[in-house]
Amino acid sequence: MSRKRQIKLALSLGNLGYHPACWRHPDVPADGNMTFAHFVNSLRLAERGKFDMIFLADVAATRDLDDPKLARERLHHIVKHEPLTLLAALAPLTKDVGLVATASTTYNHPFDLARKFATIDHISRGRAGWNMVTSFSADEARNFGSEAIADSAKRYARAREFHDVVQSLWDSWDEDAFIRDKESGIYLDLGKFRLPNHKGEHFSVRGPLDVARCPQGRPLIVTAGDSDASQDLAADVADVLYAGQPDYESAHAYYKSVKRRLAARGRDPDSLKILPGIMAFVGRTQQEAEDVFGQMQALIHPEMGLGMILPLFGDLSHLPLDEPIPEGALTGGTRYEDFQTHNRAAQHLIDRVQREKLSVRGLYEAIAEGYWHMGMVGTPEAIADRMEHWFLNEAADGFIFLPPYTPGAIERFVDLVIPELQRRGLFRTEYEGRTLRENLELPPVQHRYAVRPMNVAS
Ligand SMILES: Cc1cc2nc3c(=O)[nH]c(=O)nc-3n(C[C@H](O)[C@H](O)[C@H](O)COP(=O)(O)O)c2cc1C
Repeated sequence: MSRKRQIKLALSLGNLGYHPACWRHPDVPADGNMTFAHFVNSLRLAERGKFDMIFLADVAATRDLDDPKLARERLHHIVKHEPLTLLAALAPLTKDVGLVATASTTYNHPFDLARKFATIDHISRGRAGWNMVTSFSADEARNFGSEAIADSAKRYARAREFHDVVQSLWDSWDEDAFIRDKESGIYLDLGKFRLPNHKGEHFSVRGPLDVARCPQGRPLIVTAGDSDASQDLAADVADVLYAGQPDYESAHAYYKSVKRRLAARGRDPDSLKILPGIMAFVGRTQQEAEDVFGQMQALIHPEMGLGMILPLFGDLSHLPLDEPIPEGALTGGTRYEDFQTHNRAAQHLIDRVQREKLSVRGLYEAIAEGYWHMGMVGTPEAIADRMEHWFLNEAADGFIFLPPYTPGAIERFVDLVIPELQRRGLFRTEYEGRTLRENLELPPVQHRYAVRPMNVAS
């Protein structure tokens, strides 16, 4: 019997939280982003809240460090753990929650990544996922031998081939390939593996993978992005799509656009879960939520605020901090020409500046509310109302919760918002499945070489 459709929830554990000044919050351990125990605390909350998965975003660089105008001595996210290593360390401490990490198709090799994610799927007995990104930051490019990122078409072409190779590697072995018969001394059945033997434009990989077939068949694939190329990629290969949408209208349009692409490919639209990010400041009353929010906003030093504005709109340090920004002042910035989500977020902010006559301080505080995601300051009921509205009206299959600070804001979400969602029958009270794929109600994985045995010598 099919289950009632319910909200899927991921918890993003970026650094110390998603509010830019989170590390200054009195309850946040300022060294927590380099302290393993801090992540363990957040992980425990994720399982207590029955989240589907934790999610580790990543850019392999100390981003923004190269720009002399940024308030770089104020940025806590300059250092962090490498996500796959962190995920492997967290895995044995968990029982149910899914474990997803970001890795770039631009700066890795498919054989390497295929075996790492397969290994985490084995360690976690079927709860691994890969957030497959093409990368966008020049700071990252400089760590891998070039001055700038390759253009979008090139990155997506490489990503598709990369994914293809990884899938073939994950399909190297049949589930029952390993007989391990002590009596006869036969360990494996040589008829039950395939050599990918891939030779393409970017990669040449013989295989097979030196890791047995994963408990999930293959780890989950997550993607993110706005452009046609990234929506098409999601429709072709992803199980989960991480969306950055600030309001219902844009989230709805995006949701419809992606689901249409699935239908056009003959894929069940429900086989890809679209999860927009939500950054929520939760209070038992509206006043309490405003107080939580106000306390965080007051911690943004104006120098840091100017640094937050810089990549979007250029240097505004010549303007008074608390007077309306003059028309036409928001023209500079936008360092990522190839990054539509970023550009749409910039337009959303320009509209707000004009509508609300925001000052420079008002602008950086608006960025801190959620950046390109849904930002909310409210009671559990109000937050659940918004989530329910998006979920029931084709804007989301669930959400990625971006805690403003950790672990306090996770605790508030788990203790206040999740029970409200559960009361409404919108979220689970117990994990249903054993694997991440089962909890997300994704279809079972098809072996891509159902009938193509290969000889070991080929
Ligand atoms: C919600 C969201 C989350 C993302 N997370 C990451 C990330 O963790 N690491 C990364 O390198 N890129 C990340 N990206 C960037 C995308 O992978 C992609 O490079 C970017 O969206 C540009 O492609 P597009 O123009 O197709 O959107 C993210 C994008 C979005 C929209």
